[in-house]
Amino acid sequence: MNEKKKFYITTPIFYPSGKFHIGTAYCETLTDCIKRYKEARGYDVYMLTGLDEHGQKIETVAKKQNKTPQEYVDDMAEEAKKLWELMDIKYDDFIRTTEDRHVEAVQKIVQIFLDKGDIYKGEYEGWYCMPCENYFTETQLVDGKCPDCGREVKKMKEEAYFFNMKKYEQWLKEFYAENPDFIVPESRKNEIFKNFIDPGLEDLCISRCTFDWGIQLPNDPKHVLYVWLDALTNYITALGYMSDDDTLFKKYWPADLHVVGKEIIRFHGIYWPIFIHALGLELPKKLYAHSWIVMKDGKMSKSVGNVIYPETLIERYGLDATKYYLLRLMSFSQDSMFTPEDFIERYNSDLANDLGNLLNRTIGMINKYFDGIIPTDAKEETEFDEDLRNTAKEQLKEIEEKMDAYHVRAAIEALWKYISRTNKYIDETAPWVLSKEGDTEKLKSVMFNLAEALRKIAILASPFIAGSSKKILEQLGIKQEDANWNNVLDYDTIKADTKVISQGEPLFIRLDKEEEIEYIRNAMHGK
Ligand code: MSP
Repeated sequence: MNEKKKFYITTPIFYPSGKFHIGTAYCETLTDCIKRYKEARGYDVYMLTGLDEHGQKIETVAKKQNKTPQEYVDDMAEEAKKLWELMDIKYDDFIRTTEDRHVEAVQKIVQIFLDKGDIYKGEYEGWYCMPCENYFTETQLVDGKCPDCGREVKKMKEEAYFFNMKKYEQWLKEFYAENPDFIVPESRKNEIFKNFIDPGLEDLCISRCTFDWGIQLPNDPKHVLYVWLDALTNYITALGYMSDDDTLFKKYWPADLHVVGKEIIRFHGIYWPIFIHALGLELPKKLYAHSWIVMKDGKMSKSVGNVIYPETLIERYGLDATKYYLLRLMSFSQDSMFTPEDFIERYNSDLANDLGNLLNRTIGMINKYFDGIIPTDAKEETEFDEDLRNTAKEQLKEIEEKMDAYHVRAAIEALWKYISRTNKYIDETAPWVLSKEGDTEKLKSVMFNLAEALRKIAILASPFIAGSSKKILEQLGIKQEDANWNNVLDYDTIKADTKVISQGEPLFIRLDKEEEIEYIRNAMHGK
């Protein structure tokens, strides 16, 4: 037997500095959707997610809640896992940077860098805010004041460790010359070249001694690692790199895809390849930097009162509607705007109308004309059958091409083209007329083609809306094992006595537009 090809995919590890909103949920949903697609295509997929639990911000939030940082992150890890369970996220491992397995491996990695002379002791200089106990760079200041509290800042220096990035600058340029597609979309790569690589790399400050919620440097424990070296290495420590058991590391590294948000591409596109190269490891294959979900008034923020939490949408509209919307909303390379109007519009038109009605009408007609049995023995075709079959072939190709390039929205659009074509097929063939005229053979062909199209749709929709995909097959009476990506274009998998459900249940119930827009708006304002 052929061994399955492996595919290692990761999300960023999230800062548990507050409740996760739909932006975070998008990132996780996107990764999970790519995982499901790759699995459907026969890959052995390993998906990693987790939390980035160190740093001053966490220390501060914990204090505000009268918790120790450890108590605080323990609670947040529970919350995060609960949310991913609610969202049916199929991750294989959940790494927390406070776990021993991570801390121990990171200290070993730092030691390697120290031994190689890649890390050196120097002086960090920046603008320090006394009350916030935090450094800022010149560009982070707002009107020359602390961006967090608005108070005066003072130029200060402290002893710190640095990673010698300059040493690897030439190598990094060569790496990109040989791997021009390492980052998608290309615009994101161009940005980091323009802003950071072309002007010349700066060494990276990797330690602080102004707070202690972090991993101690093995050679100098009054210093703790300053987030990025700690955070990025999660992708290898989770697989057991530098531990007694590195089976997973041997099996899955290098990562096939790191999914990251656009604002952290600099860390993943510059520092991460350099760290990995400095460790003498194979480089990851690809970075996909997705854009942001934004609101009418800009970034989601509690103080503006425009935050949407995934639970709000899931509880009222269901998991599939929520996932569908997030994946369908986000463009490949540009920020995309969430509005309550658009959410309800998409729900009603794409899900309730296009997909839901197609299933409902098909089930209804098979019950009405053939006592619920899907006819598999039609002796005649209609003039529209061939075009429907061709559309299936064309759109399958389109979906695969788009998904292979991580253009998820475009893949969903291709699927909906097929759904629309199938709906049009009902209007063209007018089964009620065939029935009236007693044209049984053609009527059989139409009912079979509709059931078969829905089987195909269920397979193709499974990476995006797995729950609905399952329900479609259940309502059609088709077994899961008779519906998979390998047989998607076949026309002989529906068994002769397959019986559909006698009373189809709507997949998505049409929503009252005004009422629901009001509901989402209120939720955004915390009402
Ligand atoms: N902890 C770092 C990542 C370390 S990875 C080694 C971090 N965490 S974060 O919680 O601030 O952000 C995690 C991810 O959520 C980022 O990729 C970010 O782009 C994504 N999103 C946060 N808000 C978002 C939107 N509004 N829309 C889409 N994604 C957004 O950065």
